[in-house]
Amino acid sequence: MTGAPARADDNARTLAAYEQRAQLYREQTRGAGGGAVDALLRTLATQAPEGTVLEIGSAHGRDADVLESLGRQVRRTDATRAFVEMQRADGHVADVLDVLTDRLVDETVGPYAAVLADAVFLHFTPAQLRTVLVKVRDALVAGGLLGFTVKVGEGSEWSTHKLGVPRFFHYWQPAALRAEIEAAGLEVVALEVESGPVVDWIVVICTPVLPPSPPPPPGGDSSASMSG
Ligand SMILES: C[S@@+](CC[C@H](N)C(=O)[O-])C[C@H]1O[C@@H](n2cnc3c(N)ncnc32)[C@H](O)[C@@H]1O
Repeated sequence: MTGAPARADDNARTLAAYEQRAQLYREQTRGAGGGAVDALLRTLATQAPEGTVLEIGSAHGRDADVLESLGRQVRRTDATRAFVEMQRADGHVADVLDVLTDRLVDETVGPYAAVLADAVFLHFTPAQLRTVLVKVRDALVAGGLLGFTVKVGEGSEWSTHKLGVPRFFHYWQPAALRAEIEAAGLEVVALEVESGPVVDWIVVICTPVLPPSPPPPPGGDSSASMSG
């Protein structure tokens, strides 16, 4: 892996790769998941407050299917139009949503009980990840959970593995990732490395840091001055 210089249009080129090879991605990852990802989905389903889960980068919807089977309502989204159309053809409601450029919350949707981004943030530069983490933090209810996965490694690269067309990847070490999460105003609930046959994954659950309590009113503890 190299420290390939990040360019502003890296994500657009990565999305173009998915537009071209959405069906191939589905065939190659249909049976993926399991292990740590299943545990992540179960935690989001059982530990997040009541309400909708926003999934960023749903692709063909494998994780959304699992969350729904666990009783959660999922807003399925992806920046790749081909994936959104694929899910609609399967009978699901799905929205085109680019987490880098679109609003996550508006008058009609959000804030969310949880946000899931499985193998999505690995396509972002560190600066993009920082922006997205802050955006997601602001889209969660108090006590809401963000669950995401990225690959372990050093630096960045363009890789043609799996799809035969180049996608941008940035790799993370646990300590650096934890620092990014905390800098974005999120608290790490769990951060684990899952060893895989080809690559290791970091599986994260985090939650917005509560805003600091307001200072006491001038004059000290008001209850002390109450008289019977
Ligand atoms: C490696 S795939 C993972 C898909 C799915 N979550 C899974 O686990 O199989 C990466 C996904 O991120 C999506 N993606 C990449 N950049 C995105 C962006 N800026 N906003 C939303 N989704 C994005 C891609 O379209 C693709 O569906």
